[in-house]
Amino acid sequence: MSNTATLEVNGQKHEFPLVKGTEDEVAIDVKTLRSATGGIITIDPGYKNTGSCESGITFLDGEKGILRYRGYSIEELAEKADFLEVAYLLIFGELPTKEQHDKFHADIKSKSVVDDDVRKIVDAFPKSAHPMGVLSSLTSALTAFNPSSVNVDSEEDMYNSVVKILGKFPVLVAWTLRKKNGLPLDYGDNSLGYVENVLKMMFKQPNEEYVQNKVIVDALDKLLILHADHEQNCSTSTVRIVGSSHAGLFASLSAGISALWGPLHGGANQAVLEMLEAIREDGGDTKKYMAKAKDKNDPFRLMGFGHRVYKNFDPRAKIIKVAADEVLADLGVEDPILDIAKGLEKEALEDPYFVDRKLYPNVDFYSGIIYRAMGIPTDMFTVMFALGRLPGWIAQWREMRLRKEPIGRPRQLYIGETHRAFKPISKR
Ligand code: CMC
Repeated sequence: MSNTATLEVNGQKHEFPLVKGTEDEVAIDVKTLRSATGGIITIDPGYKNTGSCESGITFLDGEKGILRYRGYSIEELAEKADFLEVAYLLIFGELPTKEQHDKFHADIKSKSVVDDDVRKIVDAFPKSAHPMGVLSSLTSALTAFNPSSVNVDSEEDMYNSVVKILGKFPVLVAWTLRKKNGLPLDYGDNSLGYVENVLKMMFKQPNEEYVQNKVIVDALDKLLILHADHEQNCSTSTVRIVGSSHAGLFASLSAGISALWGPLHGGANQAVLEMLEAIREDGGDTKKYMAKAKDKNDPFRLMGFGHRVYKNFDPRAKIIKVAADEVLADLGVEDPILDIAKGLEKEALEDPYFVDRKLYPNVDFYSGIIYRAMGIPTDMFTVMFALGRLPGWIAQWREMRLRKEPIGRPRQLYIGETHRAFKPISKR
């Protein structure tokens, strides 16, 4: 293969280098396009063909259904690693030794107390506030309580801010749920594992012991691992672009949480359950909703189906489907919503509309079902996604700062009015 791509504009040829990734992916390096062509830019709404950065964190091949963090397959990590090992791997590039893992966990625990004044902010939210709005505001508020900005040239400073946010974020997640449920806020229990502590902080009733269920702990650990990173998706790109202005880590993360909220991204897990509920309330006729999803005049989409990158299957969905079956069997859950989900899945997998467009169930089709079985309210599902995605956002932010990437600033093709004279208000 040649090392360059040639672009011909108005009879003039311009050569651009081809760059290759370690998995043989090829990109045309257009850094000099504007200067070489006298101002021509590329236009690519939704960035479907645009690489915004070079990254060594996550590799995914949507055609083959491959997802790897730092070279390790998602299947192996979900089976053999715990969430903190995966967080360490994503952020620092290597799996931790036992000593590194223990120190990492101890450091996270030592930073997990959230300033008590943050409770006042939690108190000020109405109970009806959407948990994602609360979580992004609280994450942003942490900036006010931890004013020193991160010196990205100091590994120690960087490490301290990483363990600080990994310690405090689960507390904010739990407080978001406790506020919603009218329960007193709690700081957790440092004798527990990361995931056990999250569950206890979320669900402990003030007047009784919280009993851990290993099946739930393992399923949540797996869910968090599966959501931990997904290269340059909407929220991660947001974190990188906000961070590229040298805004702080917590501010960048808070922006990422807002981006995750949307139903086409992390909000899909909530949208899936709401869709299943709506179908149930409407009599459970899945065929009617399949027809709506295929009708181009109807804005309805089958939530939890399709993916920007995975066009054959979502490897995370395969893993989580098995975990969902285990959790439901262990908890003895019988839920009419599940029959509707299974019906939709079966019909979609056999329907030419979905097959031709390569629309398969994605991770969020199943994650909501597990969260529901765990007793997590529907509007908290995306908060759980954020908890899982946190290490990925941190890793991407850290990589972006260490690589000294320039501020993100896309161009545009202007299609508005050309110059016109101002008319005074009396003449309009
Ligand atoms: N239901 C019905 N039709 C669909 C769906 C769907 N869920 N998804 C895509 N299509 C159709 C779409 O109408 C289009 O048809 P046509 O070619 O006839 O115009 C074709 O499939 C391609 O769709 P697209 O919107 O161009 O695909 P995209 O890559 O831009 O969008 C997506 C990907 C995930 C936004 C989209 O599939 C979708 O809206 N899915 C439902 C929401 C969802 O489950 N999102 C969670 C994604 S996984 C979590 C994460 O990583 O964030």
